[in-house]
Amino acid sequence: MAQRVERRKIVLGITGSIAAYKSAELARLFVSRGYPVKVAMTEAAREFISALTLEAITGNPVSTDFWSESAASGIGHIELADWADAVVVAPASADFIAKYRAGFAENQLLALLLATRAPVILAPAMNVNMYEHQRTQENLRELKERGVQIVDPEEGVLACGWNGRGRMASPWEVFYNVRRGLSEQDYAGKKVLITTGPTREAIDPVRFISNRSSGKMGVALAREAFRRGADVTLIHGQVPVKVPSAVRCLEVTSAEDMYQQVMRETYESELQPDIVIMAAAVADYRPKDVSHSKIKKLDESLSLALVRNKDILKELGARRADNPRPVLVGFAVETGEIDELIEEAREKLQRKNADMIVGNFAADAFDLDTNRVWLVDKHGKQSEVATTFKSRVANKILDRIRKL
Ligand code: CTP
Repeated sequence: MAQRVERRKIVLGITGSIAAYKSAELARLFVSRGYPVKVAMTEAAREFISALTLEAITGNPVSTDFWSESAASGIGHIELADWADAVVVAPASADFIAKYRAGFAENQLLALLLATRAPVILAPAMNVNMYEHQRTQENLRELKERGVQIVDPEEGVLACGWNGRGRMASPWEVFYNVRRGLSEQDYAGKKVLITTGPTREAIDPVRFISNRSSGKMGVALAREAFRRGADVTLIHGQVPVKVPSAVRCLEVTSAEDMYQQVMRETYESELQPDIVIMAAAVADYRPKDVSHSKIKKLDESLSLALVRNKDILKELGARRADNPRPVLVGFAVETGEIDELIEEAREKLQRKNADMIVGNFAADAFDLDTNRVWLVDKHGKQSEVATTFKSRVANKILDRIRKL
């Protein structure tokens, strides 16, 4: 398997905007995850945040202007441009964006952007009218066409008092996009539909049957597929999901809702996924009758009659028949021994006409940030992914899907 080399050295450019306070948090996010960070600030940025703060966070000297570059090298901005695996400018002010588009090199950050061959990611921050101004939009469009990644600002109340789009994207959002900029785009152009989390089967207006699934495995798959360039849709049960904003999230409640949503996305929407990954813990049964009023405790015991839910993966497998698309990946959660798990995975692979089943144990997976899985595919290939973070497990699963 070709090992992806992880490129991680970040030059963080900061320009003059009130959002500069978020740069400190962004720098911390990178540093805490093992990304070496060097900061280059414009003079205007220093009016909003001190170089000392960023030096303390990154553990590296902060570059401010040409004239403070060390006499020994004399060309610090070129060194920084060459050192960077990615240059992220967050916040990027309207003035800075205009100058970058035009090719100015009047300060160190602009000069290093001209000199670098690393991917460039900009997170604009400005007043809504400045952002929506035709010139700013033209500048951003042209930069996009030149391959610069733009992390769109968010809507909300702005520091200037206006309400609208212009607020710099959250540090997490910038982080996700920088990771994408640093990664091989082996899923570019691939449409991936992922389901995750538990379903809830109503008993009465205040009660439901559910399970302990946290949705973390599916969220990890969504984040990593996005990082590798995929166009991702995530259908999830009622659990919090923190994913890049470009991941389309659709929340559902019951297994029937999930069934309807998956069928719509797979066959009726424009999505037409290339790959469907069923990581959701779909309830196999639901109460036969849902009480419209709260059930009172009248008797010593109470029996609930349950009926079978539709099997979403099985239905997808049956509808696909011999067609290779969409690629279908399911999960198998068991509680027994490894041999039984693999046997179950094989059996589910056949029964549901899937391409791969990811087998795991409830005790290793539920509500944890780590997992241990066995991958069993339709070619009879089987491999184990030893306990590791769900993000790594997700990448192993995505690696194997590429080979199916
Ligand atoms: N699944 C599904 N629809 C269901 C139940 C399960 O699509 N109604 C999917 C799950 O998302 C998972 C796979 O089928 O990808 C296996 O789920 P699991 O509950 O482990 O297996 P079951 O088929 O339900 O079989 P059993 O409960 O008997 O082990």
